[in-house]
Amino acid sequence: MGIIEWAISPWGQTVPIHIAWFLIWVAAIAGLSFLIVHVIYLRYFAKTKEFAGNTSPEFAARVPEQVPRHSLAARLFHWIMAAAMLTLLFTAFLPKIGFEFDWVTYHWIAGTVLTASIIFHIIHASFWLDFWSIWPDKVDLQDAGRRTLRFIGRRAAPPRKFAKYPLDNKLYHLAIVATGLSAILTGVFMLSRVRTIFLPRNPYLFSDMTWGLMYVLHGLAGVGLITLVMIHVYFAIRPEKLDITKSMIFGSMSRDFYLKEHDPERWIVSTSSSSTASKTAEVRQRKAG
Ligand code: HEM
Repeated sequence: MGIIEWAISPWGQTVPIHIAWFLIWVAAIAGLSFLIVHVIYLRYFAKTKEFAGNTSPEFAARVPEQVPRHSLAARLFHWIMAAAMLTLLFTAFLPKIGFEFDWVTYHWIAGTVLTASIIFHIIHASFWLDFWSIWPDKVDLQDAGRRTLRFIGRRAAPPRKFAKYPLDNKLYHLAIVATGLSAILTGVFMLSRVRTIFLPRNPYLFSDMTWGLMYVLHGLAGVGLITLVMIHVYFAIRPEKLDITKSMIFGSMSRDFYLKEHDPERWIVSTSSSSTASKTAEVRQRKAG
């Protein structure tokens, strides 16, 4: 039983046509297994979180009660992208597991919304947001090493608090970029195989072999997204992460959560006595003091 389904083209060539649909179940079981292992890890093995360095009470008092985290544009993007993603997953996979309906139209419309929202996100993040805040940096990797050493009982300095995004979020983002872009790039070409409002249908753009490989990549990215979306929703509803989830709805997180988990030197926010221009200097002073 292979992971790809093959067929014979009109020219007698054996070509891939799409992934074998049992991979839907493999992906769902992988997601479920991750959740179960994580719950067991937290319950029985994880140690209490410890961070290096404490924020001075004077500085803490100047942090606003609600720390802005996601702008309205960023939140709108997130929820539009989420709606498109869920629509794509359901329209793609329900018919394959026995709930037949005319899915292609809903699917390509949701695919177009997802593609447009991601184009917006890339431009928004490059020119308006802090582009580098979501990519792992040196401190993240050093701290991951420290956490691992401490977990296995070796001596190591405690890790520092997080920047705006913890390493787990950054790694998740990397995974979703790879799978999401694979689904989008292949999906955009696949639009030419179906009737849409964009261009006349043209199923002869590529050879049967190229189309087959494209459908396989689209399917693999698609089932990968089942697992990734399950993991994402699981973390979003975990009690200790609710502050982060609420910030994706309301835009800000509580001062307590910010001070508990985030390093004001790595994620600089406006405090009641600091203008944006003086923030970095103030943080440096605090560090020196
Ligand atoms: C969450 C993301 C996505 C998932 C899970 C997904 C999944 C799937 C699956 C499983 C199929 C069936 C393929 C087959 O029969 O081999 C499919 C078909 C298709 N997808 Fe997606 N897809 C996603 C994103 C997209 C995007 C972003 C677009 C467009 C930009 C798109 C456009 C299409 C089109 C046009 C087809 C129909 C092809 C046909 O019937 O010939 N998909 N998708």
